[in-house]
Amino acid sequence: MKILVTGAAGFIGSNFVYYELDKHPEDQIVALDLLTYAGNLKNLDGCKDNPNFKFVKMDIRDRENINKLFEEEKFDIVVNFAAESHVDRSIEDPEVFLRTNIIGTEVLMDASLKYGVKRYHQVSTDEVYGDLPLEATDSFFTETTPLHTSSPYSASKASADLLVMAYHRTFGLNMSITRCSNNYGPYQFPEKLIPLMINNARHDKKLPVYGEGLNVRDWLHVCDHCAGIDLVMRNGRNGEVYNIGGHNERHNIEVVKTIIKALGKTDDLITYVTDRKGHDLRYAIDPTKIETELGWKPKYNFETGIKETIEWYMNNQEWMDDVTSGDYLTYYEKMYSKK
Ligand code: NAD
Ligand code: TYD
Repeated sequence: MKILVTGAAGFIGSNFVYYELDKHPEDQIVALDLLTYAGNLKNLDGCKDNPNFKFVKMDIRDRENINKLFEEEKFDIVVNFAAESHVDRSIEDPEVFLRTNIIGTEVLMDASLKYGVKRYHQVSTDEVYGDLPLEATDSFFTETTPLHTSSPYSASKASADLLVMAYHRTFGLNMSITRCSNNYGPYQFPEKLIPLMINNARHDKKLPVYGEGLNVRDWLHVCDHCAGIDLVMRNGRNGEVYNIGGHNERHNIEVVKTIIKALGKTDDLITYVTDRKGHDLRYAIDPTKIETELGWKPKYNFETGIKETIEWYMNNQEWMDDVTSGDYLTYYEKMYSKK
């Protein structure tokens, strides 16, 4: 089978490419990425010599070149990770989120229909469901929870999901969607909570916790997410949405303190800063559907997963230095100097 993976040089996309090449060595992977600030070709260094791997630098919004690529390659499966993915950036500048996350999805689906792709898979997020109250600890997002978004990022992802479902009903596109909770693991860009805190802590820089640090996120190791996507895009039912999550809820402050402890630092690095606008309180996934229909189960528990992840970043400090030089410093100054 030939599989197009878009957004393949980002955090989850690159982990997915490694997962696929390992799990399905008979398949061919075409990895596509525009290499925005979040995309890093070095994330794919480990597979560049694999004969079943090929990289293409391309914009998913570029209809002409996307069509040419689809015509030449005749993909069986398209899995779309390409997106603008950071909530804080979407609050500063929403437009690129709408262009990439919505229009880019449309371009990929049009090409999928035109060139006979057998399955289009959209990688979505639990953020399309909005948030849950902090105190209602027995409430979870299911696949039938209404879409109710808070940020321009989540609104753009929900828009894309609606378009994918519209293409299924109107044009008969064979599709599936997965909505996963927060991921952690190697190759995550240090604008997101976990790698940002690891990077700051290793430099003894302040750790900026939004609000009181009591917002809750449901953490899943990126490899467990990749395994879920792999199952759904191959065996999931046409037209269906599957939630992915491992019942691993943590207050942000707990996660930050775990990192501090693992790195042998002290809590006085923590600084409570102005809260994010529209900050979602709590995310929590009910994964019953993917578990019962497809037999998915997470392999990692948070304690060992986060320990391994922190070790990965500390063993790959050159990678951290590389991605946090240049534009990252300007970004950090802009986002955090006034908080
Ligand atoms: P990321 O920002 O690390 O990677 C996104 C990749 O897309 C980057 O490599 C970037 O260069 C590429 N890209 C951006 N615009 C593009 C364009 N126009 N054309 C081609 N490539 C483009 O994000 P991530 O965390 O790996 O997330 C991947 C997907 O998973 C996203 O769709 C995101 O919404 C979804 N998701 C992420 C999480 C999470 O916790 N990170 C959880 C659930 C779902
Ligand atoms: P993030 O990693 O941006 O993911 P998301 O917004 O998609 O959940 O943030 C995770 C949580 O951590 C979220 O509640 C916001 C909080 N946070 C901070 O407290 N400080 C930070 O510097 C960042 C980036 C996030």
